[in-house]
Formats: sequence, C-alpha cells, structure tokens
Amino acid sequence: MSTSDIRDNYSRIATTYDGKWAGTLAIHARAVSDRLPLARARRIAELGCGPGRVLPHLAQLAPQARVIGSDLTEQMLRLAPARFDRVVADAQRLPFRSGSLDAVVMAFVLFHLPDLPAGLSEVRRTLVPGGSFGAVTWSEFDPHPAYEVWVRVIDEHGAPPDPSPQMPSDNITSDPGKLRNALQEAGFETIEITGERFHHQTTAAEFLAHSEVVGAMARRIDELPAARRTACLAAAERELAGLAPEAFIESGTVLYATARAAKMGGWN
Ligand SMILES: C[S@@+](CC[C@H](N)C(=O)[O-])C[C@H]1O[C@@H](n2cnc3c(N)ncnc32)[C@H](O)[C@@H]1O
Repeated sequence: MSTSDIRDNYSRIATTYDGKWAGTLAIHARAVSDRLPLARARRIAELGCGPGRVLPHLAQLAPQARVIGSDLTEQMLRLAPARFDRVVADAQRLPFRSGSLDAVVMAFVLFHLPDLPAGLSEVRRTLVPGGSFGAVTWSEFDPHPAYEVWVRVIDEHGAPPDPSPQMPSDNITSDPGKLRNALQEAGFETIEITGERFHHQTTAAEFLAHSEVVGAMARRIDELPAARRTACLAAAERELAGLAPEAFIESGTVLYATARAAKMGGWN
C-alpha cells in the first residue's frame, strides 16, 4: 500500500489504463474543472494527471495560464501531450513554491494518497490564498454482475488476497462528510461536494482484457501459479460469454469536490 507500490502498478498498466479508463474518467475531470473560476488563472497544475486527457480542457478554460501536468508515475506522464509542462512528482511532496498556483485539479487520485492530510496540505500550500481546488473521487459502485462473476471465479481458483491494495484513503475520500472534514482540516473553505453518476458500458472481451491486467483482481491472479492462472482466465472467459450486455455496465456515484484555499492561515 506504499506510494512506491502504487507507482510500480501504474508503470505496468499505463497503456492499458489509457485505453480503457482515461476517456471515461476525463468526462468527470472536465466537469469538475468547469466548476472552477479559471478564466484569469495564470498557473494551474493537474496532480496525478496520468495520460493528461484533461490538460487541453484546462488550457481552454484558462487561456492565459501555464498548465502543468504532474504525476507520480513517469510512464503515465509520458502519455500526456508533450506541449504541456510535465513534472514527475508525489502529490504529498510537491516541487512547487508556496502560493505559486492559481488552481489545482486532482481526478481519481486522492484515494491513492497514503497520507491524505499531507497531500491536501501540500495542495493548500502551493495555492495562492483564495486559489481553487477541484477533485473527483470514487464514492459508491452499483452491483456489477460481470465483476461479481470475475471475483467468484478467482476465489474458486484459490487466488490469495490482493497483495497490494491501492486505495489507502478511500474510506475517507468516498464519504462526502469525511472528505469535507479533511479539506477543512487542510485549510480549505467554500467547500462544495456533490455526488454525480458515472456509467461505463464494456463488452465481455474488453472487460476481460482490462481486468486481467488492471486492478485488485489482476494482482490476485498474478499470485497464482501459471497453469492455475491460465485455467482461471479460461473459466472466466467461458462464464462471462454467457452474460447479457447489461452485466457489463459499470455504474455508480463519484464525488465532485471544489474548494478555495483559505486566505488566512499557516502557509500564506
Ligand atoms: C486512476 S489514475 C487517474 C489519472 C487521471 N487523473 C485520470 O483521471 O485519468 C491515478 C493517477 O494518480 C497517480 N498517483 C497515484 N499516487 C500519486 C501521488 N502520490 N502523487 C501523484 N500522483 C499519484 C497515478 O500514477 C495515476 O496516474
């Protein structure tokens, strides 16, 4: 569950992640960015920007701004458009001067931070007083029949638990009340948090191609001996082929959080 485990994981799955998730998740990152007052911003950073799908949108919203894409994982950042400044950095220890950013965006990153208070305090430190912060994070998942079949087949093949859970702060960031408290404690004000629906339709082939590489279950099957792993994937393929298209809809709720760096306080 350390930051270096998370970096190793994203280094391995960067291209697969970009193919399946980046497009769907960018819808939410763009929507939360639209809630920020960016028109006059001069310097904006997206932290944990991954393949950088949202950077062009930020540049449109803030035509005068220098837009910086930053991520812990170099392999993810390499997929981001080269016309933007790209900075490899841990959001818990940012290489930016205090009060040097007008806005910060983080999409599907906060739950990865082992030290959420440190990450939020860093964001607050680097923002100008009154600067804007926008984040999107997972909240609730609806029942997902294909995923339930996938987990059952993996259990039946005796895969051990996930050796490296990747969402150490999810218990805080998935709960609107706890997320609000964490933002307040880090020195944010004017906090607004709304729940928004997400919806993503895949096919059996796409589901399996992605799930055998990305996520907790992929890490579990990687712990199996090679022959058992192959048998597990074959069994999953057979069972998934029998499901209706609706079984492959991933849906649920994400949280959009916006806030301002408090004008008074320790850092500014
Ligand atoms: C789920 S992806 C989201 C990527 C992108 N924001 C998007 O919405 O498609 C999580 C990203 O956060 C990055 N990340 C994880 N922990 C981080 C940290 N401590 N500091 C900066 N980035 C981090 C990962 O490398 C990965 O690119």
